[in-house]
Amino acid sequence: METQFNIKIEDISIKSPIAAACMAGISDGGYIEKISEYIGIGILGGYAIDDDTIKAARIMSNEGRNEFLPRNLIEYIKVQKAIVELAGVVPAINIRASEAISLANLVENLGKNLIYEIDAHCRQKPMIDAKSGEYLLLHPEVLISFVQTLKIAGVVVSVKIRAGVAENDPELIRLLWKAGADIIHVDLMDNGFPYLKKIRDVSPVFIIANNGITTYAKAKDMFSHGADMISLARNANKNTLSELDKSIRQNTKEHGWYNAPKQLCRGGDIRSLAFCCMPVKPCPLLPTLEKLKISPQEFVNMKMEAVAGTPLEQGSSTCFGSLAYCCKDSTPCMFRDAALNQAGIKKTNYMELKRELSRKLMKKIFT
Ligand SMILES: Cc1cc2nc3c(=O)[nH]c(=O)nc-3n(C[C@H](O)[C@H](O)[C@H](O)COP(=O)(O)O)c2cc1C
Ligand code: SF4
Ligand code: SF4
Repeated sequence: METQFNIKIEDISIKSPIAAACMAGISDGGYIEKISEYIGIGILGGYAIDDDTIKAARIMSNEGRNEFLPRNLIEYIKVQKAIVELAGVVPAINIRASEAISLANLVENLGKNLIYEIDAHCRQKPMIDAKSGEYLLLHPEVLISFVQTLKIAGVVVSVKIRAGVAENDPELIRLLWKAGADIIHVDLMDNGFPYLKKIRDVSPVFIIANNGITTYAKAKDMFSHGADMISLARNANKNTLSELDKSIRQNTKEHGWYNAPKQLCRGGDIRSLAFCCMPVKPCPLLPTLEKLKISPQEFVNMKMEAVAGTPLEQGSSTCFGSLAYCCKDSTPCMFRDAALNQAGIKKTNYMELKRELSRKLMKKIFT
């Protein structure tokens, strides 16, 4: 499926960079279906999937919280998943597990054709006592074993975390990525985009940013600091989603690369190396390269290898002789624009080419 955004996780194509985050007892197939026009991933659940977590969900339900406690969990999830699929949305399930074997059994029963999201987010005491939810953020070795179990079972894995609970979020995320996690779905709480950038800079993992993202300005802050998608839970209503959808589409039509980073010297994340100059002057690039243990010459080689044979290789009239080093489209520059005109490249295409360059640089940096 080719879409305006060209978003892929493994071999799953996603039609929109907006996801519906789950709400226990609320996010079922019918709920996702109603907002399907505006979202790319619909996250069902959360579902308690083994004895200890089901017991915890019962206690939470008795205390007045909404919980899904279906009689036949597997059949029930299959039906919800089918509704989401029929609505043209990629299905995901948020799951509360107390041991790894429950996850392996779940995949055996449900199959591989959906995204499995580990709930390491729930802060309700009964769920934590059941060694699930937030417990996992404080016991990363268990969380990592959950990720590994799901990867061995051959599924796409997301980990839903709450920022600021684990001892060191960037380090945890690096370890989760190393363990095979495909997606980190992060509830940023009040930490906002500066925290997101910190997470972005430690791995190339797909990131869904969450919490209070109800306006395009907030969504843009997330996209330009490292989010591959944004998600909404409490405000995932048609009004908010359609406004977000409209603005994201319009901006992408005008500028290409829907989640382009800010430039490094304006606080951009690691992906912004695609816009950086040759490392020849004192600016944030040199310390960034030093932190990444990349020499200036290696950086030049990386860039030139990455653009070899692409339209970004050209640009003899630009500052550094190649569009590989040129700034973002939003920075006015007549030299870059002249080079683009001469090469017959539209600005939106230029930005998509920079996206590809950024992808290649990230791959080099993180392998
Ligand atoms: C009623 C309710 C139930 C929720 N249930 C879950 C859950 O089961 N698993 C989970 O990972 N997050 C759960 N969340 C958290 C949301 O997915 C989301 O991270 C949080 O509400 C912040 O995003 P928002 O500002 O868009 O609502 C729940 C949130 C609410 C309000
Ligand atoms: S290399 Fe250029 S774009 Fe990058 S941080 Fe320095 S001045 Fe900014
Ligand atoms: S030519 Fe313009 S866009 Fe390219 S690096 Fe120089 S100032 Fe930036």
